[in-house]
Amino acid sequence: SRQWRGIIEEYRDRLPVGASTEVVTLREGGTPLVPAQVLSERTGCEVHLKVEGANPTGSFKDRGMTMAITRAKEEGAKAVICASTGNTSASAAAYAVRAGMVCAVLVPQGKIALGKMGQALVHGAKILQVDGNFDDCLTLARGLSEKYPVALVNSVNPVRIEGQKTAAFEIVDMLDDAPDIHVLPVGNAGNITAYWKGYQEYAADGIASRTPRMWGFQASGSAPIVRGEVVKDPHTIATAIRIGNPASWQFAERARDESGGFIDEVTDRQILAAYRLLASQEGVFVEPASAASVAGLLKAADEGKVDPGQRIVCTVTGNGLKDPDWAVAGAPQPVTVPVDADAAAERLGLA
Ligand code: F0G
Repeated sequence: SRQWRGIIEEYRDRLPVGASTEVVTLREGGTPLVPAQVLSERTGCEVHLKVEGANPTGSFKDRGMTMAITRAKEEGAKAVICASTGNTSASAAAYAVRAGMVCAVLVPQGKIALGKMGQALVHGAKILQVDGNFDDCLTLARGLSEKYPVALVNSVNPVRIEGQKTAAFEIVDMLDDAPDIHVLPVGNAGNITAYWKGYQEYAADGIASRTPRMWGFQASGSAPIVRGEVVKDPHTIATAIRIGNPASWQFAERARDESGGFIDEVTDRQILAAYRLLASQEGVFVEPASAASVAGLLKAADEGKVDPGQRIVCTVTGNGLKDPDWAVAGAPQPVTVPVDADAAAERLGLA
């Protein structure tokens, strides 16, 4: 047996890298595809979770970042920049360390989870908090990359999408075919674009017999694609997908339409219910934005849109440890006991 080598080495022939390209990797990808028992029972389907929080920096962004930083290094960049709701910045900061590059990140003031901020800080990124939302940060990052010698590593950089499409490859490799339905949270809409590209490529080459229907879910307060218009002041507790003007908007619509899927919204309440269900009943701790996929599946099931017997994959995009405030909030306080077995047993209901 050997260790997983990271997405570029594992899928080199399907990615835009040369034979002599020096790969910058933290051995991302190869993440667990976990059968979801409770969700399967609830929907009458065979539901799997693609647990992207198991990536090296705790989110799916690492798949795109190994490509973006590898390319930037190959092109001689000394510095990279990104706008982020937190996960992209954590990933960029880590991969920049591997490549010996300076990393600059632009984040919306006060709207990124503490764990993500901690990652960017400990990896030595230069962080600017912008007095604006993610969309403002992206505008600023684009402008800086056009005027100054710094490479943009947001998903508007097409090699990011190339890296992220490998998650679809892994799922087909694992299940021996594409699922019937693939469910994703949607923020800047890069990931749904990437999965659709991956599924299409495998189908075109006959590795999969079909492509899945793509179902995307935005948070209700940040649902520009659902509304059909830019949301000027997006809000949601799922800060990772608090985005009012997604960069890959058209590509997401194409994935939706070409696959026969849909993009809908879920409320913060539905997101938190799915977040708690995943943790307490499936044993999978994700960050709130990640639970939007599962919240969406449950909503669709309640609306009678899920025919039984289908094979469904929900991507859960980021690790719960990124944003633990929501795990602690509303949970009962642990009780304190003396060093005494009888007292502890009584508190545990064993006595
Ligand atoms: N889930 C998580 C945990 C994310 O961090 C993001 C995006 C998404 C879902 C949505 O993916 O943007 O490809 O539609 N996070 C970006 C960031 C915006 O800056 O970390 P998408």
